[in-house]
Amino acid sequence: MWLIDSSIGRKLIMSITGVFLVLFLIFHGTMNFVVLFSADAYNAIAAFLGANWYALVGTKMLAIGFVVHIIYAIYLSYQNKKARGAVGYNVTSSQKSVEWTSQNMLVLGVIVVGFMVLHLIQFWSKMQWVELSHKMGLETSGDLALATDGAYWVKHYFENPIYSILYIVWLVALWLHLTHGIWSAMQTLGTSSNIWLPRIKVISNVLSTVIILLFISIPVYFLLGFNI
Ligand code: HEM
Repeated sequence: MWLIDSSIGRKLIMSITGVFLVLFLIFHGTMNFVVLFSADAYNAIAAFLGANWYALVGTKMLAIGFVVHIIYAIYLSYQNKKARGAVGYNVTSSQKSVEWTSQNMLVLGVIVVGFMVLHLIQFWSKMQWVELSHKMGLETSGDLALATDGAYWVKHYFENPIYSILYIVWLVALWLHLTHGIWSAMQTLGTSSNIWLPRIKVISNVLSTVIILLFISIPVYFLLGFNI
């Protein structure tokens, strides 16, 4: 299949699923930002979304695009490694001048996914998983009352400066990944003229920065001594 066999097909899958990732992040970051203003409003939005099948399906679709992006990145790197064999890359001087982020997308992606596992254990397993397992009638150790109190978990983890610092490290890696990823996806999806290239790089930097500021404001807020 050309989507898998050709290099443009592979870039297309990474780009389209990358768009899912960015949409998910805009949605997730905006919602999380609300917690700094009102814990009740934050929990109310989460409850509203949980009660609406279209919001739930939308979030899940975005999260699935996200997972496909990660699995596909690992598959592509494996394929590239196999194609290069034992010799590896012969790096030329022109390749050395390629942006650092562009050459380290997989490394940055692995860091992002590593922290994501921590994040899902901290939040998803205490909230959505507890609700789901209760609905399915499974034995669960989680507290159902706390499963709908996202603000409680935000406070619980970010009051610990170690977690706040870890989240900042995570978000800086994600920012680097996004600054390259967004313009690269836009280029693959069609905007590659000489006039537009510098413009999409600016758009990419601005969008990545806004997304990361939404998230990073939370650990920074706690580190500065404020509380929700
Ligand atoms: C300060 C930063 C963040 C906070 C406070 C936060 C908060 C949360 C909370 C409360 C949940 C559980 C929702 C539920 O189960 O009902 C969650 C789930 C999730 N988060 Fe985050 N998050 C943050 C950053 C991120 C980042 C940077 C990513 C991606 C790179 C991310 C990806 C996810 C995913 C994939 C889920 C599971 C899917 C879902 O339940 O919608 N989160 N997050």
